[in-house]
Amino acid sequence: MRETLRTAWPYLSRYRRGLAAGFGALLVKDLTGAAVPLVLREGVDGLTRGFSLSGVMWFSAALLALAAVKGLFQYWMRVILIGISRDVEYDIRNDLFRNLIRLDASFYSRFRTGDIMARATNDMNAVRMMLGPGMMYWAETALTFLLALTVMLAVDWRLTIIALAPAPFVSLTVMYFGRRIHDRFEQIQQKFSDISSRVQENIAGVRVIRAYAQESAELAKFESLNREYIAQNIRLVKISGVFMPLLHSLIGLTFLALLWGGGLRLMQGQLTIGTFLMFSAYLTMLIWPMIAMGWVVNLVQRGRASLKRINELLREPRGIAAPADPAVLSAPPRGEIEFRNVSVRFPTGTALDSVSLRIAPGETVAIVGHTGSGKTTLARLVPRLLDPSAGEVLLDGIDLRRYDPEQVRRHIGMVPQETFLFSMTLAENIAFGSESATREEVLRAAEIAGLAPDLSAMPDGVDTMVGERGITLSGGQRQRLAIARAISNRRCIP
Ligand SMILES: Nc1ncnc2c1ncn2[C@@H]1O[C@H](COP(=O)(O)OP(=O)(O)OP(=O)(O)O)[C@@H](O)[C@H]1O
Ligand SMILES: [Mg+2]
Repeated sequence: MRETLRTAWPYLSRYRRGLAAGFGALLVKDLTGAAVPLVLREGVDGLTRGFSLSGVMWFSAALLALAAVKGLFQYWMRVILIGISRDVEYDIRNDLFRNLIRLDASFYSRFRTGDIMARATNDMNAVRMMLGPGMMYWAETALTFLLALTVMLAVDWRLTIIALAPAPFVSLTVMYFGRRIHDRFEQIQQKFSDISSRVQENIAGVRVIRAYAQESAELAKFESLNREYIAQNIRLVKISGVFMPLLHSLIGLTFLALLWGGGLRLMQGQLTIGTFLMFSAYLTMLIWPMIAMGWVVNLVQRGRASLKRINELLREPRGIAAPADPAVLSAPPRGEIEFRNVSVRFPTGTALDSVSLRIAPGETVAIVGHTGSGKTTLARLVPRLLDPSAGEVLLDGIDLRRYDPEQVRRHIGMVPQETFLFSMTLAENIAFGSESATREEVLRAAEIAGLAPDLSAMPDGVDTMVGERGITLSGGQRQRLAIARAISNRRCIP
């Protein structure tokens, strides 16, 4: 619990005033709510003593006024507290994304994309449910119980015990079934996301599937997934089918207990009709808290587990970061690159072993080698996408690790083996990373990269949208686009 609070508090404390207002509204709402049965008792008992029209008028006016005040503050309570949980969700989500785009390759080789996505969506939602509705209903429930119980015990403690005896079972039932229903629901969500990824992969790879004549094999796999999905849905229906009737009969039991105990005492003259009605009103008021208690316990448990999982991403340190006192890189840099006894070791093996190499400014160097011999690894060291395990890489005579990597990367154009295009226009893809590039610069970069002839054949020229990951372009066009992107970033346009 302390761990949860330590993480959540920095986010919550920004909204201290809102929280105070929200819980203030909750207090007023619960107090007026708890006053209703008392007014009811006074009114009914007054009427049994002697009927008067003005009495009825006063009585109804008081009830109406209380209901209106309660409703108003209940509205504010929900709007304020749920609103804050949305704000907190917004803040955490931003921090999460900020961290995710800064983390390096070693992080992404440990966490799968699907897992990260699940943490950013499902877990995020569970945390919000804990901090919003969870917190709100917990406070509301506890206060309602306290107020109602105080009055009920003061008026007739025996009847209170009789009437509330079944209450713990209601909470336990909600807790027990709530957890199981949630688990089954999660499994269904998981299965559904399996089905979606399957469909997505099959659509993306439809050409390969057809080329290898795998249609019927894929169909069979899909049918079995689909069948499991339906079976899990039926499991959910079975359990929720038991839950609702059970809950209603338990609630019915509390009223039965009140009717029996209260009726008995009413006949013995130990209870007025007003008091009996008051008890019944309090009991009605307590139904929701009984249910909410079980629900809130689950919300908090789920939220805590999720917050832990989100924390693992938030606390993940950046592998490659700027030093506290970065060296100043002349702009533009001279461009002398030196590798001194550089070794790179991956958990799977050594990619580079004591490589030394000096590249003079303006020099063109081609590195040739077998597949998997470490050429890409060598290139990735220069913009510091990777740090050497031993030795050092120097730019203009200074170790790269002493510069701010963002500064270094501003001066380096890179065309990787596998390019990544965003689903934006060609022009936006070329200008990616150099937001200040003018349209002329973009067109010029496209021309240098040899993309100009292809552009004129596109429906909207440089403003044509490329499909997801550039699917509408040919392999060569994609590579040229990546070259144009590197050129436009370097600002070396003549
Ligand atoms: N992130 C990584 N984690 C673990 N091993 C890696 C990683 N990146 C590369 N390797 C391994 O390091 C070695 C060198 O890889 P690299 O990509 O530098 O080869 P390459 O010379 O560019 O090959 P190619 O000509 O096929 O592009 C390979 O054996 C590869 O399996
Ligand atoms: Mg390579």
